[in-house]
Amino acid sequence: MPQRTSGRDKSRKRLIAAARDAVKNAYAPYSNFRVGAALLTTKGEMIVGCNVENASYGMTNCAERTAIFSAVSQLGPSLEIDAIAILNDKNAPCAPCGACRQVIYEFGPKATVFFLSAKGWKKLPIAKLLPEGFRLK
Ligand code: THU
Repeated sequence: MPQRTSGRDKSRKRLIAAARDAVKNAYAPYSNFRVGAALLTTKGEMIVGCNVENASYGMTNCAERTAIFSAVSQLGPSLEIDAIAILNDKNAPCAPCGACRQVIYEFGPKATVFFLSAKGWKKLPIAKLLPEGFRLK
């Protein structure tokens, strides 16, 4: 029997496909660990990002933050993240780092995060990954 695909399922697949594509643009000569991210806004736009490393290692920008900063610069400061997917070229477990969790939370306190865990794909609300995230207001 043919399976029906829900709208949510379609956007998850689209996000993962876009993140996979974004991996190709990663600049990761130091770690050799290429990461791609794709976010979906609450208005339905999709924006991608990849990690961008630097010889001064600490200046490295993760794929998630590249996608979010790119989204703000393209769409403006009212960005609201509905969902974000992250993957890498090694199919290795890769949950967002602490800094990226806080940045995701800033623009999507209710965002859904898709990432590869040691047990395969996980789907978690950002509030589970970042309990009591910081807000100024
Ligand atoms: N990295 C990301 O882009 N996202 C993550 O969620 C984890 C780590 C990048 C940063 C660095 O360029 C490389 O992966 C190795 O840490």
